[in-house]
Amino acid sequence: MSVQKPIRRTTAPQITARKGGEPIVSLTAYHAHTAAIADNHVDFLLVGDSLGMVMHGFESTLPVTLDLMIMHGKAVMRGAQKALVVVDMPFGSYEESPPQAFQNAVRIIKETECGAVKLEGGARMAETVNYLTERGIPVMAHIGLTPQSFNVMGGFKTQGRTRDSWQVLEDDAQAVTEAGAFAVVLEAIAEPLAARITEQVPIPTIGIGASAKCDGQILVMEDMLGLSPRVPKFVRKFGEVGRFIEEAIADYSAEVRSRSFPAEEHTYDVKD
Ligand code: KIV
Repeated sequence: MSVQKPIRRTTAPQITARKGGEPIVSLTAYHAHTAAIADNHVDFLLVGDSLGMVMHGFESTLPVTLDLMIMHGKAVMRGAQKALVVVDMPFGSYEESPPQAFQNAVRIIKETECGAVKLEGGARMAETVNYLTERGIPVMAHIGLTPQSFNVMGGFKTQGRTRDSWQVLEDDAQAVTEAGAFAVVLEAIAEPLAARITEQVPIPTIGIGASAKCDGQILVMEDMLGLSPRVPKFVRKFGEVGRFIEEAIADYSAEVRSRSFPAEEHTYDVKD
């Protein structure tokens, strides 16, 4: 029996049960503070390997390590109390074999205590998705534009723009569903195809640059907040946080330079 106060977080099966129902809301999160702010408004938080580009300034997600994902996963778990937390498996941590994926997914789950992992790939990763789910690890799949494969894909390109490319993506969605994924991210997939896949599979589709008909949506938090210098075309900015930060820093800088900060109310006097 646990002595800890129980935390009731959303579970992977609860996300699956939302298929065709109330839209699923999700965002990426990389640190405790923003995870705590988002927690009341989302169903799940993804500790995405996009953190390599967004937080660490890499040109792609490829340099991201398992240790980095675990460190950010722990932070998000400390910040969020209700949302399901899903942690991305980084490039090189799962593709070699199902046992390799299992070992690294176990590290993620044990060290962060998150509720699920996500990995990129459709039919080619189905065996691995099945291997993990059969051993107690909920897996979110990710098909369409899979950024870890951008070198093979020839860039960050929208998928399914021509009808003759649809079957492969439909087969990917079917394969990860049959393998036991509890949900599937559809990234940068042409709208009619994303809507069609959503109708075809019995698990929730989570769209990013895909279709409003997906069962849920995800965005990179920094992109929708207006904090990222460059964002993909599909991102709608819901805030101008970058501008607010710059204005606040400029005000602070001006006050320090003019010796008007700290003012009396921000200093401590001696106690008599
Ligand atoms: O890494 C990430 O942030 C993602 C989302 C874009 C789905 O995989």
